[in-house]
Amino acid sequence: MPEEQTAFPEGFLWGAATSAYQIEGSPLADGAGPSIWHAFAHTPGRIADGETGDIACDHYHRYRDDVALMAELGLTAYRFSINWGRVFPEGTGRTNPRGLDFYRRLVDALQARGITPMATLYHWDLPLSLQTRGGWVHRDSAAWFGDYAQAIFRALDDQVHLWATLNEPWVVAVGGHLNGDLAPGHRSPAEAALAGHNLLRAHGTAVQAYRAEVRPPGESGTPHGIGLVVNLEPQHPATDTERDQAAAARRDAFINRWFLDAALLGRYPDALIEGFGSAWPDFPGEDLRLIREPLDFIGVNYYSRGVVRHAEADVPARAERVRQDGRPHTAMDWEVYPQGLTETLVRVKEDYGNARLYVTENGAAFPDSSPRGGMVSDPDRVAYLRAHLQAARQAIAQGVDLRGYFAWSLLDNFEWAYGYTKRFGLVHVDYVTQTRTPKASARLYGEIIRSRGAALNGEEGG
Ligand code: FCB
Repeated sequence: MPEEQTAFPEGFLWGAATSAYQIEGSPLADGAGPSIWHAFAHTPGRIADGETGDIACDHYHRYRDDVALMAELGLTAYRFSINWGRVFPEGTGRTNPRGLDFYRRLVDALQARGITPMATLYHWDLPLSLQTRGGWVHRDSAAWFGDYAQAIFRALDDQVHLWATLNEPWVVAVGGHLNGDLAPGHRSPAEAALAGHNLLRAHGTAVQAYRAEVRPPGESGTPHGIGLVVNLEPQHPATDTERDQAAAARRDAFINRWFLDAALLGRYPDALIEGFGSAWPDFPGEDLRLIREPLDFIGVNYYSRGVVRHAEADVPARAERVRQDGRPHTAMDWEVYPQGLTETLVRVKEDYGNARLYVTENGAAFPDSSPRGGMVSDPDRVAYLRAHLQAARQAIAQGVDLRGYFAWSLLDNFEWAYGYTKRFGLVHVDYVTQTRTPKASARLYGEIIRSRGAALNGEEGG
């Protein structure tokens, strides 16, 4: 076989990803406590079309069928998140065994099908009771999260061996506390800086709990460990002027290096601190030691790149995105830029010490046509998937220790403030009947998986 056909290593995880609030529905079932997303979605004006996650994909009731579908598509791994408030309705203290039981049944179903689970402990759905105590801005949030993580490790570590602490803490800090587009909807630079810091302390605390609680799985060769999932996008200057180059560097520090430098190098980038100015507190040195607790892997969520120019008013990075007219864009208006995935993975390897990596999210929303005769034609997503998997393979060829790829998303789902208007799924969901219809991209993905990447070389599949 030519070398590029074998570039995906033995045991490479071929997965898809979801998150609890986006697919489960039944947010208050069986004694669960409400989350900030439940409250936010029920606040008029926050979500497109006034939608909520009350039903979503009804995965809470249909998880068995959804796991069967994953097996049918040929997935070898599945990344999902745990809704903290199902297990601790008030966030701390009393546990709710029925909530925990849902995740127990889910991971049992995955294991029964030979699908490797990767569980994310926090994908944005903070218990509302903890928000009323200050949420991520409260210094105790790290301890709240540590206790929750410890309980989950104890309950599920016999079946789950891959753990992600937080999904995209940057988005929680910026979308939730600086721009206010996401729950809890605050707009304060000082809160964003503090929330980001406490999220990182929470991450470090959970990693310590993992080291204390969890023994490596008995079977050798089982992928295991704990990591942090970050959203990364290369920042390219719109022109080669020094001003724009400096703007791209600042935006890189803001988006990419904020959480990576802290978690892996134990420091915050100077450009980030300068950007926040007086809103950035003087954090104690010992916090950074906790934040830097050694990790087993880094999860990279990659969707697009940024092309940026200097913009004085756009704090903290003083940079703004320049749309690349004439280039393909998704329904989110994100430029399709597959080579940015190679660039990102290689950069993480070079700057952060060749860590084990997973692509924990990658995918695209497009205005898909409705199912016809049990099929959905999604040529743009097919092209996106193909090009990005080729880009991942390129990174492996350049020495990146990439161990798996998770497409975002298994199912069309609740896309946060966009409600149900953006479809990211490999599988189409009819929200009225809850019918699942695999799109052409799902079929192609199955072929790629079965051929361990060789199907990426042909032209077929569209
Ligand atoms: C990521 C989120 C995920 C989904 C995709 C499109 O930032 O982690 O939940 O919304 O974007």
